[in-house]
Amino acid sequence: MRKIWICGANGMLGSQFTSLLTSLNLPHIATCQKQADITDLETVSDLIRTQKITHVINCAAYTQVDQAEKEQKEAYLVNAIGAHYLAIASRRHAAKLLHFSTDYVFNGLATLPYKEDDLCSPIGAYGMSKMMGEMKILAEHPQSVIIRSSWLFGPFGKNFVSTMVKLMSQRDEVKVVADQIGKPTSCLELAKATLALLDEEGIFHFANPNETTWFGFAQEIYRQATDLGFELKAKKILPISSQEYPTAAKRPSYSTLSTEKFEKITAKKISSWQEALQEYLLSIHPQNQVAAALCRH
Ligand SMILES: NC(=O)c1ccc[n+]([C@@H]2O[C@H](COP(=O)([O-])OP(=O)(O)OC[C@H]3O[C@@H](n4cnc5c(N)ncnc54)[C@H](OP(=O)(O)O)[C@@H]3O)[C@@H](O)[C@H]2O)c1
Repeated sequence: MRKIWICGANGMLGSQFTSLLTSLNLPHIATCQKQADITDLETVSDLIRTQKITHVINCAAYTQVDQAEKEQKEAYLVNAIGAHYLAIASRRHAAKLLHFSTDYVFNGLATLPYKEDDLCSPIGAYGMSKMMGEMKILAEHPQSVIIRSSWLFGPFGKNFVSTMVKLMSQRDEVKVVADQIGKPTSCLELAKATLALLDEEGIFHFANPNETTWFGFAQEIYRQATDLGFELKAKKILPISSQEYPTAAKRPSYSTLSTEKFEKITAKKISSWQEALQEYLLSIHPQNQVAAALCRH
């Protein structure tokens, strides 16, 4: 029988997994960094052995893209060494490792969606540390699954959507970068997709169609939030260039992931990010939060 271990369970994706596995009644354990630090090989190895884990889903990562430029060692320790330790421990105890990576392993110079075997050539320290993690995992435990995804949003952590809704409710106008193209992805959709890959191996891309810019994403957030009756102060969403919004880490200007392989192997059609966005906005709608709080009392 399967028993899944979610590590990094306090993060945005890890919390989503815990919620999904609990609702599906699937046997699992979930640990945060304090309970199981993935940079401690013996801790993770003992846990897999004693808990009789069959599948490790690694949601633990160093994810601060800009901070990683200054903290390259810290990012490498978690994203490369920690990932490697999970691969060693999983192989040692015959468990399958499912690990997440990012569109930021690509340099963004492509003009067509990136496929799984396209050349990785990250332009920032975070992407570099994630690429090193991928390489170490596949060298150590080739039966692992690596799922690259992009632009995640979901109810369990600060993300672009929650930040936009906050800014739109505080400011008259909101400026958003319009020259980076990618695919926004719902954590819930990604978690469900991962469960469809439990018995696969190799690299997969998963993201919600279709590609857009951060500006396009913000416009849709504004449109849907207005329709749903959110109290927004903003009157305008304005496009700006990456140069007008400098960040410590460079981001790929084009990082759209092709999901053809996922769709072919699983025979699943992926729903659009616009549909997933509506579900997410409904879940954070102030009225629904009041209703949820009343139900809890
Ligand atoms: N967010 C995105 O847009 C995005 C896009 C593409 C791919 N991804 C990938 O998706 C995965 C999940 O990302 P996320 O957004 O859910 O990240 P997140 O919210 O930052 O969560 C990461 C979690 O990892 C934990 N962690 C850090 N170091 C650890 C260690 N040494 N041992 C155990 N746990 C540790 C953190 O714990 P603390 O809270 O205690 O630090 C945190 O709970 C990552 O692999 C990321 O690279 C994310």
